[in-house]
Amino acid sequence: MKLDDVLYCSFTAWYPKFSHITIKSCVIPLPQDFLDYLNEDGVVLPEGSTGVTSEDSNQNDDNLEGEDLDVIWDSDTPGAMCPKFLELDSAVKKYIKSLGGVVFPKLNWSAPRDATWIAFDHTLKCKSPSDIYLLLKSSEFISHDLNQPFLYCEDWDSKKEVRVAYHLVLRKWLNVHPGYEFRCFVKNNNLIGISQRNHTAYYDFIGKERDDIIFDIQDFYADHIHLNFPCQNYVFDMYRQEQGDILLIDFNPFGEVTDGLLFDWTELENNDPLKGTDSESIKVPAFRYVAKSKGVQPDPLLTNYGVPRDILDLASGTDHNKLIDLLQLKRSQQEDGSSSEDESDVQVRQTDPR
Ligand SMILES: Nc1ncnc2c1ncn2[C@@H]1O[C@H](COP(=O)(O)OP(=O)(O)OP(=O)(O)O)[C@@H](O)[C@H]1O
Ligand SMILES: [Mg+2]
Repeated sequence: MKLDDVLYCSFTAWYPKFSHITIKSCVIPLPQDFLDYLNEDGVVLPEGSTGVTSEDSNQNDDNLEGEDLDVIWDSDTPGAMCPKFLELDSAVKKYIKSLGGVVFPKLNWSAPRDATWIAFDHTLKCKSPSDIYLLLKSSEFISHDLNQPFLYCEDWDSKKEVRVAYHLVLRKWLNVHPGYEFRCFVKNNNLIGISQRNHTAYYDFIGKERDDIIFDIQDFYADHIHLNFPCQNYVFDMYRQEQGDILLIDFNPFGEVTDGLLFDWTELENNDPLKGTDSESIKVPAFRYVAKSKGVQPDPLLTNYGVPRDILDLASGTDHNKLIDLLQLKRSQQEDGSSSEDESDVQVRQTDPR
């Protein structure tokens, strides 16, 4: 996998060409001070939370000196830890409205899927800038986009900086049925494999509609994707809403930075799943899905990320500032009269992040 392969999968690189077959989206360039804010450590306090005193703040807070620290969450508590991003706020509000009032957020490559535990309704549904910032700030996947997007690239030299223009992507919210999503692997411009996207669940209709699904995906690939994407090797995700009705969701690099789901990357990279199924001119991709309900497994990726880093820090006692933030958050929730969730709920979600 090369740097260019990753760069071509950045949302702003592919969206203009494929906007007619994907979910309507808006893109907002992110200013450096917002990127610095995302990279700051610590728990972000939600709207209405009480501020912390300067003794409570950690050394990174020096970077925030001189800023009016109270606007993102509409709090006018002096000393709150949130810097203000008024222009970004108003752009986000404008685009949320233009996309129908509810959006799905992501950065150049990733959505904060690992951070839904912190959202009010445990989804990525966002209706306000603060919904989005809280998810972005709590996500390891976003942190990967910001700090290590080229980690697996063979031509990446960590000493040489690759400048990336970061964007916030807002996508119109779509009620996605996870059983209708598939991940498609393209190697040497051939569609070699298709995997059920939510590979830890069993859906009986996939087996029943197997041939139609493969046919639709091959058709979609041939009509819209083949030779239109600037790499020879890549992965694309799609959503088959109904027979013959397919939406593109995303492009991902062909390599282990992308979850192979029901495929193994060694297998995809070294062998060609097409072998043995290749007649003279018609190539049939390998199609993998969970065929029996006992095949349901916990998602290893999200199991790893399902335990919030802040909870780990709290449990290990390595960051006392986070404990102070958490206690203040709990106190402000009690003051608001919002019973919300107790710690027992968080513990249950650690073992089953879905
Ligand atoms: N506009 C949307 N509205 C609602 N849900 C969405 C939307 N776009 C994507 N999703 C859901 O979120 C999931 C992740 O979206 P997406 O592929 O864009 O994120 P990602 O971070 O690139 O994921 P991955 O790391 O697996 O490539 C999708 O599989 C889909 O279920
Ligand atoms: Mg993706």
